[in-house]
Amino acid sequence: MSITLINNETNEKFEFETINCTRGPNAIDFSKLFETSGIFSYDPGYASTAGCKSTISYIDGKKGELYYKGYPIEELVAKYKYVDVCKLLLTDQLPQNDTESLEFELELRHRSFIHRTLMNMFSAFPTNAHPMAKLSSGVSILSTFYFDHAKMDSEEDRQTMARRIVAKIPTLATICYRNEIGAPIIHPDISRSYIENILFMLRAYPHERLKHGLHGEVEITPLEVEALDKILTLHADHGQNASTTTVRNVASTGVHPYAAISAGISALWGHLHGGANEKVLNQLEEIGDVKNVDQYIARVKDKNDSFKLMGFGHRVYKSYDPRAKILKRLKDDLQAKGIKMNPKLDEIAAKVEEVALKDDYFIERNLYPNVDFYSGTILRALQIPVRFFTPVFVIGRTVGWCAQLLEHVKNAQVRIARPRQVYIGK
Ligand code: SDX
Repeated sequence: MSITLINNETNEKFEFETINCTRGPNAIDFSKLFETSGIFSYDPGYASTAGCKSTISYIDGKKGELYYKGYPIEELVAKYKYVDVCKLLLTDQLPQNDTESLEFELELRHRSFIHRTLMNMFSAFPTNAHPMAKLSSGVSILSTFYFDHAKMDSEEDRQTMARRIVAKIPTLATICYRNEIGAPIIHPDISRSYIENILFMLRAYPHERLKHGLHGEVEITPLEVEALDKILTLHADHGQNASTTTVRNVASTGVHPYAAISAGISALWGHLHGGANEKVLNQLEEIGDVKNVDQYIARVKDKNDSFKLMGFGHRVYKSYDPRAKILKRLKDDLQAKGIKMNPKLDEIAAKVEEVALKDDYFIERNLYPNVDFYSGTILRALQIPVRFFTPVFVIGRTVGWCAQLLEHVKNAQVRIARPRQVYIGK
């Protein structure tokens, strides 16, 4: 199919082919727009612009649906472990059986260790440095330990690069936390699952037997492991969001893949993006009581007040974020099974959602809870500190960034990302 553009001043006509999708909107191929017409398209924020073709995740913003490699997110969360979803995103295949699943996970466990020199570098940060700054720096430094990934000639190279960082990101993230609280670093314990190790490296306390490499016992329940596993699956990938676009753009210059992932971590840190999960908790605590909810909703609507409701709204979802729906159910399920939520914050969050969803300001703008609105209450119930919420998002999303980066660099048509501008200066 083609589209004709008519310049109404000169009556010139320009024809452009369309690119058909398998789901969602088709696209006009504007890659030759400037060459043929001498004009640019203008779309700050890229609300109507596709920067790539992708097979990884599909979001139906109207229906509130999310698919990874064609599987509905609800099915993946209910039937598969996060490490299985990692395998799907990196190899196009879910594990065919428990043996395959364990094989893939064992590879991640064995790759989860960090070079001692890199560990020592973390002690150079001021203890109150935000973990996202440390994590982004740590991943950038990781590129110097594995410089061979700068050139990935085979699928095996690409898989090794991806599995290495997916395996190490929880260790790096937990080092950031241990360093912040001034606690000794806890090495991964490969007798524990990928997910259990995250909670272990966060919680374990060194034991006088540490000199023998032993740790004091630490309480981690299967329910907590299951909850964190689902949260990471829900955060694994999400189309061309700001941090994934950053990873693709940085990778398009030919730089080391871990430098691109490091840039993605910095982009995710923003409070309008992944950093919102931390801000949601801060905001619920600031509201402090259900009786204050109305005044905060009024602040949202006050044109002179820049106050935004964190965890609400989305560029693509103009309906309830399916991930928020699953997280809300997971929260209630965990509560029923005995995991203590913070009743006060829970009550405020429920009231905020109830008032907002009935308010014209939110209805007219299609503002619904997004993935960040409920994730924090669960992470907090898992005794994960608020400043560590966005690093948890990084742990979940690293596999998606790797999958998207590999799709980008393997696509021979990809050129260096270099947008144009509408010059309005002197
Ligand atoms: C994530 O892109 C992804 O997929 C991201 C993500 C992923 O998995 O990678 O889903 C993860 O980042 C989720 C979003 C987390 N961020 C927040 O919760 C921060 C609060 N949300 C907003 O800042 C906002 O909704 C964004 C950033 C998420 C979306 O911004 P857009 O698409 O640019 O929307 P907009 O700012 O143009 O808003 C349209 C209108 C505006 O009002 P008007 O100017 O038309 O009067 O809606 C208003 C906005 O002021 N609005 C809000 C609001 N979000 C939008 N008003 C109050 N509170 C909000 N949260």
